[in-house]
Amino acid sequence: MTNDHRKYRPFPAISKVNRRWPNAHIQHAPNWCSVDLRDGNQALIEPMSVSQKQRLWALLIRMGFKHIEVGFPAASQPDFDFVRWLIEQHQIPSDVTIQVLVQARDELIERTFDALAGAPRAIVHVYNSTSPVQRNKVFGLDREGIIAIARQGARKVQTEAKRYPQTEWTFQYSPESFSNTEVDFAIEVCNAVIDVWQPTAHNKTIINLPATVESAMPNVFADQVEWFCDHVQQREHLIISIHTHNDRGCAVAAAELALLAGADRIEGTLLGNGERTGNMDIVTMAMNLYSQGIDPELDITLADDIIATVEACTNIKTHPRHPWLGELVYTAFSGSHQDAIRKCLAQQSDEEPWDVAYLPIDPRDIGRNYQSVIRVNSQSGKGGASYLIEQQLGIQLPRWLQIELAQPIQHMAERQQGEVQPEQIVRLFQQTFMCNDGLLQLANYQIDRQGEQHHLQACINRGDNTVLVHGHGNGAINAFVDALHKTLGIELQVLQYDEHALGEGSDAQALAMIQISLQGHRYSALSKDHDILSASLQAILSAVNMGVAAQASAA
Ligand code: KIV
Ligand code: ZN
Repeated sequence: MTNDHRKYRPFPAISKVNRRWPNAHIQHAPNWCSVDLRDGNQALIEPMSVSQKQRLWALLIRMGFKHIEVGFPAASQPDFDFVRWLIEQHQIPSDVTIQVLVQARDELIERTFDALAGAPRAIVHVYNSTSPVQRNKVFGLDREGIIAIARQGARKVQTEAKRYPQTEWTFQYSPESFSNTEVDFAIEVCNAVIDVWQPTAHNKTIINLPATVESAMPNVFADQVEWFCDHVQQREHLIISIHTHNDRGCAVAAAELALLAGADRIEGTLLGNGERTGNMDIVTMAMNLYSQGIDPELDITLADDIIATVEACTNIKTHPRHPWLGELVYTAFSGSHQDAIRKCLAQQSDEEPWDVAYLPIDPRDIGRNYQSVIRVNSQSGKGGASYLIEQQLGIQLPRWLQIELAQPIQHMAERQQGEVQPEQIVRLFQQTFMCNDGLLQLANYQIDRQGEQHHLQACINRGDNTVLVHGHGNGAINAFVDALHKTLGIELQVLQYDEHALGEGSDAQALAMIQISLQGHRYSALSKDHDILSASLQAILSAVNMGVAAQASAA
């Protein structure tokens, strides 16, 4: 039977009355525990080298993790050596506790304590599998047999710890495959371990509840966790930890709902590396909290450092649309999104809560800039390119010029079949609208004003000749248009005119932006000068030059 949904069974529903978690809120960050160096490492095609582990360790410390699972020293010599390096080279800051994983087997527990000799503090994390499939098909044991393994593991950990009284020990137990275990049995196993360890308010035990393979919706997991917290013995002396995997893509959601259900601590990895579809992504969950106004108590401004280090240590590339940190997650290609972002950013003040369409957080918070927010391809319309011109050249384009610019950009995007880079946009803009080296060039001008009437006289270079033109009108530009008509026979109308100051102070230049109609066609040109009227007259001549050149090449 292949590709047949009848092969699978629905996850059994939990009939629970008085669910409290749906009404709860997350108020603060959980205690985080990174398992990058253990669970993450165990899932790699090529496990990390010592130097990669050291690099990742340094990042985890910089980010502010206080609990870090550093390996499975009884199962792997490199992990053993790494733990020894941390201890012997005094690499563990005084507020950080290392954690190591071990199966509930005596000889492995002994070796684990060998690895930890001399550690100032350590969490010994012991586990055994508890789910029916593991009991029946893997271990061939009944419930009592599984409880016996857990109890013996707990005793062995306790006896070994007594041999190293100089270390401050914390014990952690995981019923592996908790989420696939009957919740009453999971409680029974954990109670057996708690009976051995006898935690107190000053020496709490960590009970870690893994969704080893995520098999149900996150609300089911929340029910299981709430149930567990309500019925396990000595809850007040326990730290309830959560360890979710991402098989159904809900590891973060399950961990968040588990916090609502009463958990205190979250285990996961940076960017979600880990077995199969990965562990719960701590960066995503921390960013989820941050974007709700909760201090995640991890330094997430190190975004690019996190990506670079994780990629270098795992040889796994970060998806460009990875939640919060991917390269494209603060980028808009669609014109309407760009337009909305531009408008909101213009109104956003530092004093008010962040409220920008399509940008759930301020990209600058994680070291990104607005430059990469708006990128242009054939889907972008006019907004994006204009925004980039504003960013790159400091020129705010009037709407009519935005429309004029959109067409050549669109053609370029279609020709390239991809993104148009900001430098290409600037170059195209300058070549299309600011090309002031055509046949007609303004040499100088003079203007007389009598009331509303302007009389203008100008010298225009036309190739090697200079032509004197004069005309009048109810403004300098109209007078110039009149002069071109009367003296050179050029008949044009000015359709659009805008000016823009470039810089400040007496040295500032002005930019004239003009659109004319010449023989039934529109031409737009920009020109700059210290004198705005010179800039405007030259812009008219540049637009005429464009028209003449276009008509010559069409002939
Ligand atoms: O996923 C899991 O169950 C584990 C345990 C060993 C905690 O990694
Ligand atoms: Zn795991």
